[in-house]
Amino acid sequence: MSNHDGSIIAARTDETQEAPAAVIVLAAGAGTRMKSRTPKILHPIGGLSMIGHALGAARGVQPRELAVVVRHERDRVAEHVTQLDTTAVLVDQDDVPGTGRAVQVALEALDARSGQLTGTVVVTYGDVPLLTPETLRELVAVHQGDGNAVTVLTALLEDPTGYGRIQRHDDGTVVAIVEHKDASPEQRAIREVNSGIYAFDAAVLRDALTRVDTANAQGEMYLTDVLAIARTAGGRVAAVVLADRWQVEGANDRVQLAALGAELNRRIVERWMLAGVSVVDPASTWIDTTVVLDEDVTLLPGTALHGRTVVARDAVVGPDTSLTDVVIGEGAHVVRTHGSGARIGAGASVGPFTYLRPGTVLGEEGKIGAFYETKNVTIGRGSKLSHLGYAGDAEIGEYTNIGCGNITANYDGVNKHRTVIGSHVRTSSNTVFVAPVSVGDGAYTGAGAVVRKDVPAGALALSVAPQRNIADWVAGKRPGTAAATAAADAGTDTGTTQTPTGTTSSTTTEESTNA
Ligand code: UD1
Ligand code: MG
Repeated sequence: MSNHDGSIIAARTDETQEAPAAVIVLAAGAGTRMKSRTPKILHPIGGLSMIGHALGAARGVQPRELAVVVRHERDRVAEHVTQLDTTAVLVDQDDVPGTGRAVQVALEALDARSGQLTGTVVVTYGDVPLLTPETLRELVAVHQGDGNAVTVLTALLEDPTGYGRIQRHDDGTVVAIVEHKDASPEQRAIREVNSGIYAFDAAVLRDALTRVDTANAQGEMYLTDVLAIARTAGGRVAAVVLADRWQVEGANDRVQLAALGAELNRRIVERWMLAGVSVVDPASTWIDTTVVLDEDVTLLPGTALHGRTVVARDAVVGPDTSLTDVVIGEGAHVVRTHGSGARIGAGASVGPFTYLRPGTVLGEEGKIGAFYETKNVTIGRGSKLSHLGYAGDAEIGEYTNIGCGNITANYDGVNKHRTVIGSHVRTSSNTVFVAPVSVGDGAYTGAGAVVRKDVPAGALALSVAPQRNIADWVAGKRPGTAAATAAADAGTDTGTTQTPTGTTSSTTTEESTNA
């Protein structure tokens, strides 16, 4: 049923809806306006490729078959489609150009696979990323409910340039679609456009396509010609007007891709806010469609969450944080952090200025602090790596405190080796762990220790040579310098006496563990 005042018709109830025989996704076009070595439909938006979004919407109507028509960059597109959807049927379009030919080859391939299709066939595009499964379901519901031969999804645009125009009779019934390049000035004034998304009766479509020729401005087989042909043959042809024009908009160049990306993100952020997530600055917050957030999560400005990132209740993320495939536990804080492939335990804290690389697992109530880089490291409950360091290929037990500036020297120039540190360990500032090496439970290290040998539980590892002070060295070796003058003044002022051979030895009490 058509509706001209801009709102989509209320969907019929789902029980009356029959699963479509097939959805055919058109993806053979070149997409030259992207000016890219990457095929247009593989460009990402909202964390998925454009074709990924199209496949998601198509699967949403639970078709018995899903076909994707390919041609341009065939192998790359085919590989990507198969990765996303193993049961999608790939159909190669031949030399005959046009959307009509694309649908015809798909129909032939599907008929050959499973016998002649009957019922509803939905056609959609690989480059309309905001189209939702709900819209396709409503299209199918109207199509089936009204017993249409063809139902086309349309939109009213301020600037309809380039689109096919919907020609209606005075009584409102849809007569035909006229392509922009073939349209008269009067037809070009029509603002209702063809989205390129349709529901067809399979038999009508099959028959009409045999009558579609290439006698038009572009020399292509136009799928749009099927409407007039079906109508002439006595079929019911109707349009569903979609008020939400974003859903039928394709991305032809990178300007349109960015505009669609911003709108998609706006919708995703809004959905999460309505689901109980606090987003302080929606405009600077980017959330992929694949991300999952819990109630009472707070996202601070400049936060970008990608891939399979999952954030649990009461966690606070940001500001200025980019995370890909990072799982964050309840109540954790992640501040000014760049991370991927990491797990952060409940109540843990990360940042600011922290780089989490894949394989980082931080236990509950643990901490990875400022200017730390981590990779492939498991950190137990309550353990802290508070400031300035690198931990890679390591395992750290529970309630251990790693001092400031500690480094795991995991790479010998050829191979990577592991560092294993126990629980309740206290390491002093600037300890270097030369892997492979292990430190037992409750052990300590001294400041600047280079740990090359295993440290038994409870031991203190010292490797820095005892300190030696050579008295009056400056007066002897750097006479006349400001340092010498300062030293002389200090000697006078404080009355300190130093012996030329005086030495002090380092003690553990002067070594901070940077709690
Ligand atoms: C098409 C419609 C137009 C509609 C517009 C909406 C026709 C004749 N015109 O025009 O009425 O307003 O979409 O965006 O259908 N494709 C193939 N094989 C081909 C040609 C195209 O698979 O031989 C695919 C493209 O990859 C793309 C889609 O079909 O996904 C549309 O192709 P495009 O060239 O953009 O069609 P338009 O000229 O924009
Ligand atoms: Mg187009």
